Amino acid sequence: MNKRVKDVVEAIVGAVQRVLDEKEVSESEYRNALHYLMKVAETGETALLCDVFFNSTVVATKARTSGGSTPAIEGPYYRDDAPLVDDRLKTYATDDHKPLLINGTVKAVDGTLVENVTIDVWHSTPDGKYSGFHDDIPTDFYRGKLRVGKEGSFRVRTTMPVPYQIPDQGPTGALLETMGGHSWRPAHVHFKVKAPGYETLTTQYYFEGGDWVTDDCCNGVDSSLIAPDLVEEGSRVMNIDFVIEPAREQMGAQA
Ligand code: DHB
Ligand code: FE
Repeated sequence: MNKRVKDVVEAIVGAVQRVLDEKEVSESEYRNALHYLMKVAETGETALLCDVFFNSTVVATKARTSGGSTPAIEGPYYRDDAPLVDDRLKTYATDDHKPLLINGTVKAVDGTLVENVTIDVWHSTPDGKYSGFHDDIPTDFYRGKLRVGKEGSFRVRTTMPVPYQIPDQGPTGALLETMGGHSWRPAHVHFKVKAPGYETLTTQYYFEGGDWVTDDCCNGVDSSLIAPDLVEEGSRVMNIDFVIEPAREQMGAQA
């Protein structure tokens, strides 16, 4: 017997029972819902469907208890085997999107410098795909691991990502459409900030004024994650000062 599982599952069951009761859901509607869920499983969209509705809630819980930068959803397209990059992500030779300079620092919550920080950066291709997952695009395009310098700063050049449409041909897209919604996410750049002895920070940043920034199908945008519309020398500039917190095990050991 696992008390945590019992506690959470009983609460979920109770919440669903309340809705079935309140909405006076009929037996045929209930059967339709079961058929829908079986289709979700058959098409391999279980994680997609749950992420659309619930991942941002779990991330918000983490955000409430974190003293560091605002976290965001990871999405399904992180690759731990991305190449180390120096100062530029590899982009298509044909990519004519506006250049993007991502610039910033990494510090601990107490303001001190952190050693041995790496930052994974990844974003969509100009046609809204992710390398290493779609169309056999090699993993070294539009993603890489940056090493943060001794002075705590980093800088990388790439090109502007585009809004991303989550898979919309299956049951998840059909449900969003039936609900009068859509399957678009605003253009974004993913980050994963890692350092020994610190909690890993997984987040995303968005672009002020971008399409879908105020209407993300995954509800993943926090206002603190929207980079102001800043352009310097023809390049969009994203300035980010990451703050990371000591690993929780370590805090426990110190207490
Ligand atoms: C999904 C895709 C993303 O690029 C992302 O950042 C979050 C979610 C998705 O397909 O569910
Ligand atoms: Fe993404």
